[in-house]
Amino acid sequence: MKTIRDYIRTIPDFPHEGILFRDVTTLFADAHGFRLAIDGMVRPWAEARIDKVVGLEARGFILGGAIAHELSTGFVPVRKQGKLPGPRLSQSYHLEYGEAVMEIHEDAIRPGERILIVDDLLATGGTCHAGVQLVQRLGGQIAGCSFIIDLPDLGGHRLLDSLGLQVSVLCS
Ligand code: PRP
Ligand code: ADE
Repeated sequence: MKTIRDYIRTIPDFPHEGILFRDVTTLFADAHGFRLAIDGMVRPWAEARIDKVVGLEARGFILGGAIAHELSTGFVPVRKQGKLPGPRLSQSYHLEYGEAVMEIHEDAIRPGERILIVDDLLATGGTCHAGVQLVQRLGGQIAGCSFIIDLPDLGGHRLLDSLGLQVSVLCS
């Protein structure tokens, strides 16, 4: 039986020379692979009393929608700058290959709500940290962060640990 790792393809020099890009479209395209991913990402949080799932653009939307459905919660997108139409908060962050700004709708989370942050991959942790900061600025409580892939050499897992956050990953 194939494992999650078997479904993920690595593409060298994308989007820049020297980056080994972990491409999860091949995992998402396979019914067994996608089920493995969603079930594995949900399992650690099934009893965690999650109120909302926050998905990080872009692959966190695909995962987050399915995970929110499984946990019977709402879903909230954290989007790249300029995409959300309503009143929003912004947070800048650094990436493995650049710098960017993430945004969330101001009314998307109520103070005290327990939030699960979801994305496909944890590298430097910059993207997730921006999501964590946006949720916390709205008064949300981070119950945890769930990823398919961890690239531990890039330090993101250490960063989230140092912030006292619970993290689940399926492979590294
Ligand atoms: C990738 C990935 C994560 C982020 C992880 O997205 O899907 O969101 O990088 O990197 P970090 O831990 O160093 O922040 P990317 O920035 O490539 O954007 P995309 O989803 O819009 O393609
Ligand atoms: N985001 C940051 N680094 C990445 C990588 N190596 N593969 C896919 N997404 C990424």
